[in-house]
Amino acid sequence: MTTATDNRSIQDKANEFVKPGHLLINGEWVEASSTLETINPATGEVITTFAEADAADVENAVSAARAAFEGKWSVIPAARRGKYLAKLADLILEHGERLALLETTDNGKPYFESSKIDIPFAANVFHYFSGWADKLSGQTIPSRSDAFMFTRREPLGVIAQIIPWNLPLVMCAWKLAPALAAGNTVVLKPAEQTPLTALALGELIIEAGFPPGVVNILTGRGEVTGAALVKNTGVDKISFTGSVEVGKEIMRNSADNLTKLTLELGGKSPNIIFADADMKSALRGAINGIFYGKGELCCAGSRLLVERSCYDEVVAALKEAASGLQVGDPFDKKTRIGALVSKEQMERVLSYVEIGKQDGATLITGGERVAFNNEFSEGCFVSPIIFADVDNKMRIAQEEIFGPALAVIPFDTEEEALSIANDTQYGLAAALWTNDIKRAHRMAASLKAGTVWINTVNMFDPSLPFGGFKDSGFGRDLGEDALDGYLQTKSVWVDLS
Ligand code: NAI
Ligand code: MG
Repeated sequence: MTTATDNRSIQDKANEFVKPGHLLINGEWVEASSTLETINPATGEVITTFAEADAADVENAVSAARAAFEGKWSVIPAARRGKYLAKLADLILEHGERLALLETTDNGKPYFESSKIDIPFAANVFHYFSGWADKLSGQTIPSRSDAFMFTRREPLGVIAQIIPWNLPLVMCAWKLAPALAAGNTVVLKPAEQTPLTALALGELIIEAGFPPGVVNILTGRGEVTGAALVKNTGVDKISFTGSVEVGKEIMRNSADNLTKLTLELGGKSPNIIFADADMKSALRGAINGIFYGKGELCCAGSRLLVERSCYDEVVAALKEAASGLQVGDPFDKKTRIGALVSKEQMERVLSYVEIGKQDGATLITGGERVAFNNEFSEGCFVSPIIFADVDNKMRIAQEEIFGPALAVIPFDTEEEALSIANDTQYGLAAALWTNDIKRAHRMAASLKAGTVWINTVNMFDPSLPFGGFKDSGFGRDLGEDALDGYLQTKSVWVDLS
């Protein structure tokens, strides 16, 4: 266990790693006129202050990004752009420990997740896209003898990127890497709950030698900094990950400028266990699917559909597994569920426990705020929640809770499983567990989701596109598809007649 003294030293370290109260604009740390506090959700203590960018700061950052886009960034060889990204990836790995420490302190997630998964994955994403920078070619189109026709793939210009608090550094990588590889410049706004790793990344961006203005980092609240960024007429494209509600608002607010838009908006992803599955891995997948990352994942397997012939067995095993997960100090190696990101989010999750009970679902385990009689007494800890006997029409099966809360729903046939799985406004991801290869492919083709995992869950690779069907959004992060979202095609016709 860490002690109160360790926690204080974590706060001191955080202040060494980031420039409190500063914004990264045009390659320099600029002081802002107002500041906010970021809180360690495991202790309730203030970690440090950070800047809130206003409309004038946004204007300065967008102008710097524009100047970099029209200037140095547009003329350096593409391979050089890739080298900056590769260098940044190396620096992330080199500073992995301190980045993981910041991430866990700011977000509350277990340290093993930050250090073993998030930080290396962020580096992998920069490495992957570094290789794309000089491989973005157009086509020659040989359909006429009286003309030479070809296409060029050109960057869009200045990209505004607004990201959430659940995977703070990973989201920086998903957004920045493809945009920069494609030759754009960026103004990035991290979430106000978790600004620290984005600021630390800013330091590394300077160290990697990116020309000034290529990446600008503006912290602040959504309704202040985010809104000013969305309305700024100098922005060519917005890429957003977050709630449906804010996604719609951004779409409305960007309409006047016809700003291009990519939205990644969460889900209510089904995780489907057929009775013929390998039960041991299916159960592990059900638990990891919802409780990894405290369930604060857009692709969390928050609806577990279980074939009725194995339903009682699965529910009993889930109850046992969930109650065995250690909730508590994120820096304790045995902790599996850390602190939820904020009091607000904890209250939201707890409110769904009441909603589930009122709607008639059976709470089989969890759902209490976990109180500790020590430095974690103010922490945002909730015991992992499982509701059984859920009807898919209930609010706990339809609304994104974004926390460690699972709704278990029985089904009788493959057709019924498919129809329940698709009966949601969302379509981000789905997982299924079966040993019948034909059924696996039938389901994969029929599920209305941007990602389908077969006999696994929550797996990501920088080369595999990720994004939503239906209300989960449009456009893709990761893979070659992500580059499409940051490029526009120009057709060139050369008369040869
Ligand atoms: P949010 O959608 O408000 O925040 C995401 C980002 O958008 C943050 O950087 C925020 O500052 C910014 N933002 C907020 N309002 C804005 C505005 N008017 N204009 C421009 N930018 C704005 O998400 P929030 O409030 O933190 O969480 C609420 C719920 O949203 C969660 O419980 C969860 O259901 C969902 N959510 C989904 C995420 C996903 O990955 N799909 C991530 C975070 C939240
Ligand atoms: Mg919000």
